[in-house]
Amino acid sequence: MLFSKVFRMVILGAPASGKGTISKRIVDRFGFVHISPGDMLRLHVLHGSDLGKKAKKYMDEGKLVPDEIVMKCVLGRITEVGNKSWMLDGFPRTLVQAERLSASEPLHAVINLDVPHDVIIERVKGRWIHLSSGRVYNVGFNDPKVPGKDDVTGEDLVQRADDKPDVVAERLNVYEKMLRPVLNYYQKQELITNFKGSTTAEIWPQVEKFLLAKRMKAVAESIQG
Ligand code: AP5
Ligand code: MG
Repeated sequence: MLFSKVFRMVILGAPASGKGTISKRIVDRFGFVHISPGDMLRLHVLHGSDLGKKAKKYMDEGKLVPDEIVMKCVLGRITEVGNKSWMLDGFPRTLVQAERLSASEPLHAVINLDVPHDVIIERVKGRWIHLSSGRVYNVGFNDPKVPGKDDVTGEDLVQRADDKPDVVAERLNVYEKMLRPVLNYYQKQELITNFKGSTTAEIWPQVEKFLLAKRMKAVAESIQG
């Protein structure tokens, strides 16, 4: 069942904390539109668009893509999605992005996934993705039905250029430095909820319970008018 009112949320967390994996479950369960700037940027790089050419060098080094480029991409997509419930995966990542998003879109919730870094470094080694959809697999956790092939399209899976160990270490550094002010910003607005755990099996039931409660509240509010 969908939310009775439009619901807008953000999911944050370190690289490979499971944002994409949890997002997929939220989409399946609650029907939100998934907006992942990381997936969008990877597609631009794949297609060699002007935006992709500009973004590639930052992504390959594990650095953040400049705010102007990412903002344009995200706000354009939000406009396309229109009057539906959506969730932003891995955005905002800087205070500038958070402030500009708030100026354009009121948010109902911010979810932060808190996963130990040693778990993250192990996970990245086994990650394979389907580039055009952003579907993500992990050897031994959610294996594709046919090794190396996407379950839906049968197309080849690839490993991400930024999943090399030294680039992952840089992404974790950038995350620690840049995300703290964003977390504080949402903390002050009492919008953020932290979900702690080492596995999706631990985190998903907490997230599901949280969103079910939000949905109940939205239903109660719509009955009260
Ligand atoms: P982005 O694509 O957003 O990458 P990220 O934040 O580094 O996060 P990931 O996508 O790597 O991980 P995830 O949390 O989605 O985890 P996943 O579900 O895959 O960004 C990439 C780059 O784009 C950035 O570095 C930057 O350059 C640029 N960019 C993006 N947004 C930007 C912004 N707002 N501003 C500026 N630049 C931006 O899970 C990880 C793995 O673990 C998977 O293989 C999964 O299958 C596996 N897994 C999940 N749960 C389990 C489990 N329980 N057990 C075993 N494996 C598991
Ligand atoms: Mg992701």
